[in-house]
Amino acid sequence: MICATMATPSLAAPPRIYFYSRIDSPAMWRDALAAQLGEDGFELIVGPDCATPHEVDIGLMYNLPPGGLLAFRKLRAVLSLSAGINQFDRTRMPSGVPLARSVDSALAQHMVAYAKAAVYRYHRRFHRYERASRESTWSFELPRLNRHTAVGVLGLGELGSAVADALAADGFDVHGWSRSARAVPGIRTHSGTDGLSQMAGAVDMLINLLPLTAETEGILSSELFSRMRAGAFLINMGRGAHLVEADLLAALEQGRLEAATLDVTAVEPLPAGHPFWKHPGILITPHVAGIVTPATAAAQIAENVRRAMRGEPLLNQVDFARGY
Ligand SMILES: NC(=O)c1ccc[n+]([C@@H]2O[C@H](COP(=O)([O-])OP(=O)(O)OC[C@H]3O[C@@H](n4cnc5c(N)ncnc54)[C@H](OP(=O)(O)O)[C@@H]3O)[C@@H](O)[C@H]2O)c1
Repeated sequence: MICATMATPSLAAPPRIYFYSRIDSPAMWRDALAAQLGEDGFELIVGPDCATPHEVDIGLMYNLPPGGLLAFRKLRAVLSLSAGINQFDRTRMPSGVPLARSVDSALAQHMVAYAKAAVYRYHRRFHRYERASRESTWSFELPRLNRHTAVGVLGLGELGSAVADALAADGFDVHGWSRSARAVPGIRTHSGTDGLSQMAGAVDMLINLLPLTAETEGILSSELFSRMRAGAFLINMGRGAHLVEADLLAALEQGRLEAATLDVTAVEPLPAGHPFWKHPGILITPHVAGIVTPATAAAQIAENVRRAMRGEPLLNQVDFARGY
């Protein structure tokens, strides 16, 4: 096995960080972490291969390497390079190792910008004008005021609440749904199964920002769509497995939903020939709503490296009992 080490000369046993990602640049992360921890403050081992897994302190990764992490017996923490952690199969990780996700202000800004773009596209009917303009049709519609469009946000966590607050600040009639009951100024909040039904029936657009757990998998289904206003819109920014794909196609066919914007799909990239690609009511974006970048997330990662080395709880640590 090859261990591609981007070493910095070690002074007193700096933390050994194993890095694995198919999409993130190890060189950029190395530079960003050096700015936080010092050039000699860590050793970065770039996977997937690693000759000395039993000597690794921290796993920094978007998803598990092909061989899993069971050989990394002394791991003190696994730090996700994503805000989601559903890609981590815990049976392939040493038990008892804490897992933290990445959330930073830049990620929230990206998510808010994406959500606003999708909401305004439907609210101001750009999706209809795009089609009409291809057909050389002058098709005037009276614009609605923002307060006359009700938007529901599924999940009021770090990202869902940022999106809900931003839409409320723009004057939309914003509803939000979470597991525990919450009071959020300017947002009509709901919780529980009844709360979900109430919210679904009260909104023109539904934005999904839930984590993917056993409870939320498949939540965007016919059952939910049947409670929504006819001609409503769906914006899925959570995970592909939240959506029952056949149910979305049926809801669009029946006019239950008018259109959907999907940033995430069950299989990514979405396979060639998938019915979503050419569906006139579906806009696919390639999982770009929010990106964790080294420049803005390295401070949180570095803090979690320090905390893990001291045996302290991590920032944004996952509660395995809750599943997020
Ligand atoms: N598309 C992208 O590029 C992209 C980028 C980043 C993240 N994401 C997705 O966004 C998700 C949300 O991120 P976040 O940072 O906002 O998560 P978070 O801070 O953990 O918040 C999760 C929210 O969902 C609620 N929730 C969880 N399970 C629920 C259930 N069974 N019923 C009702 N509400 C439930 C939680 O309720 P409580 O408040 O009661 O705990 C909380 O409000 C991530 O997990 C990830 O999948 C996507």
